[in-house]
Amino acid sequence: MSKIFAANWKMYLNEEESIDFISKMSSNKDLFADKKVMIFPSHTALSSVKNALQNMPNIKVGMQDCDMKLSGAVTGSNSISSIPVDSCIVGHSERRIIFKEDEKIVKKKLENSLQAVETTILCIGETLEEKNQDKTFEVVDKQLSILPSTLNGKKLIIAYEPVWAIGTGLVASNDYIAEVLSYINNAIKSLYSDEVLSEINLFYGGSVDENSVESLSTIPLLDGFLIGSASADFKKFENILKKMR
Ligand code: PGA
Repeated sequence: MSKIFAANWKMYLNEEESIDFISKMSSNKDLFADKKVMIFPSHTALSSVKNALQNMPNIKVGMQDCDMKLSGAVTGSNSISSIPVDSCIVGHSERRIIFKEDEKIVKKKLENSLQAVETTILCIGETLEEKNQDKTFEVVDKQLSILPSTLNGKKLIIAYEPVWAIGTGLVASNDYIAEVLSYINNAIKSLYSDEVLSEINLFYGGSVDENSVESLSTIPLLDGFLIGSASADFKKFENILKKMR
C-alpha cells in the first residue's frame, strides 16, 4: 500500500497562497492521480481550498484542530461542524504546548471529531525532556488512554510525532520510530477487534522532507506521514510525493 501524505500547513500559507498552491497541483494532476493526499489548510483558507480542489476529488481536506464544543460562546475558535471536511487533527503538540491542552481537552475534541468526520488524526509524542528521562512509552500510554472503546465505523490515524523532531530538522531514527510504532500497535491491539484495527493507521511526523521520506517509508507498520513545513512549499511537496513509497 502506498503511504498517505497528510500536509499540515499550520499558519504558513494565507488564503491566496493556499489557492495558488492548489492551482499548481491542478496543473500537475498526473502526479496526484494515484496518491493519497490530505491537506490541512488554515481555517480561513479552508472553504477556498475545498472549492479549488473540486476537480481533484481524491485529495482530502481537513481542519487542523477543532473546539471542544460544537457551538456557543467561544470567541475565535472553530467548531468541527463549522464546515464539512473529511478529516481533523486533534492533540497536535503545538496545541498541547502553546494552548495548554491536556488529555481531558484532547479527549473531548477526539470525540467530536470521530462523530463528525471520516478520518481523525490523533497526534501523540514525547518531549525531549521526557525522552531523556526514558518516559516515551509512559507518555504514549497516557496520550492513548483517551481512546474510545469504539470508533463507530470511522477511521483513526495515530500520528507519532516526537515533539523534539517537530520543526527542528531532527528526524527520529528509523529504529526509534519502528520501536515506538510497535509499542503503539500492541497497545491498540489490546483495545480493538481486528475489524476496527483495520481502520487505524499509524503515521510518523517530525521534520519529514524530500531527503528523509524515502528511507522513512521503509519503516514497518508505517502507513503515512504528517508533514508540516516541507508540505507548504510546493517544490518540496512535489518531491516528497515522488519519493514516498
Ligand atoms: P514539521 O511538522 O514537518 O514541520 O516538523 C510536523 C507536524 O507538526 O505535524
